Amino acid sequence: MNKLTVKDVEVGGKRVLVRVDFNVPLDEATGAITDDSRIRATLPTINYLIDRKARVILCSHLGRPKGKVVEKLRLAPVAQRLSQILGQKVEVTPDCIGPEVEKAIEKLKPSDVLLLENIRFHPEEEANDASFAQALARLANVYVNDAFGASHRAHASIVGVAKYLPAVAGLLVEKEINILEGILAHPAHPFAELAGGAKVSDKISILENIMDKVDCLLIGGGMAATFLKAKSYEVGLSLMEDDKPDFAAKLIRDAAQRGVRLMLPVDVVVANKLSAGAEVKVVSVKSIPPDWRIVDIGPRTISNFSKELQRCKTIFWNGPMGMYEIPQFAQGTQAMARLLAGLEATTIIGGGSTAEVVTEMKLVDRMTFVSTGGGASLRFLSGETLPGVEVLLDRKG
Ligand code: 3PG
Ligand code: MG
Repeated sequence: MNKLTVKDVEVGGKRVLVRVDFNVPLDEATGAITDDSRIRATLPTINYLIDRKARVILCSHLGRPKGKVVEKLRLAPVAQRLSQILGQKVEVTPDCIGPEVEKAIEKLKPSDVLLLENIRFHPEEEANDASFAQALARLANVYVNDAFGASHRAHASIVGVAKYLPAVAGLLVEKEINILEGILAHPAHPFAELAGGAKVSDKISILENIMDKVDCLLIGGGMAATFLKAKSYEVGLSLMEDDKPDFAAKLIRDAAQRGVRLMLPVDVVVANKLSAGAEVKVVSVKSIPPDWRIVDIGPRTISNFSKELQRCKTIFWNGPMGMYEIPQFAQGTQAMARLLAGLEATTIIGGGSTAEVVTEMKLVDRMTFVSTGGGASLRFLSGETLPGVEVLLDRKG
């Protein structure tokens, strides 16, 4: 990585604003943190700063509150977990900017750690508003980006703030970039991308780019419906982005032109409702009933995908194969996780929900690398730069 890191700047006694990605999954019913991997992944940076007697000001988003205060998305449980792990008190400020925050920061002693309240409670964060970024910058002397998972977002706390402070990478960002760069430099072929998750619109340009890198592209999960629709299959009530089949059709054509093998489900699990206890059946993609929706890939698809992946030497997996949150619909996702864990290939798991599944199944150690970023790792591997890394100070020479 050609960027300066936290180790290249003076931090002792300084107020250091660290953008982290504490966007952890929460239990619907209890609000408890179900996977704290993203918190643990930032410990090298936080401990480094504590050891060097910096005043540590952490800042993160949680969920998508869309610029408003959402009680369920307050960072108190995150602070509590971090404080348990660190063995020192971590307070949360009532807001992320303003006089009260400034007061709390004035009181910080060397090696203290403070967490600012959910940055996305302010609409200015996602709008990358300049005065909001300046207000954040005024809180500190140095800015560290350690939020790898959010580095593809050009938001105020990721991109904006870096204009007003010396801005360097945290140790997690450094590690993620170095590992992913290494894989990208000389990937062993065949190289496969196994893509899933719900939204095509989030990923369309990335999928386009990644076709320059991979030999095969396997598509499951929610986005498969849009591709099936593009091939004129009926997809019943499956979640669909209505304006996207054209993109999907273009992607299918591009793949053919470039000699990339694009594989779609041949059978799917469909359900009559989206909850546990739903009626489910396996059908061919040619006969998806009108009042049902796709919730997982089917057994023939699992077998086709498995055969293809078994001959690959590098596999990047991003996005679940179905609505894995409901155990009944998790079989395709779990089958892919087990398969990848057993392969000799280089296996990279792209963050968010895919990493959660792999963590829950205790397969992390059997993958080559589990990234804390979903969209971020996908974008990086497609060859695009990450705005939140771009803005950091360059390493000279
Ligand atoms: C993630 O979970 O992918 C990151 O925290 C970024 O979150 P976002 O997709 O809501 O920007
Ligand atoms: Mg995401």
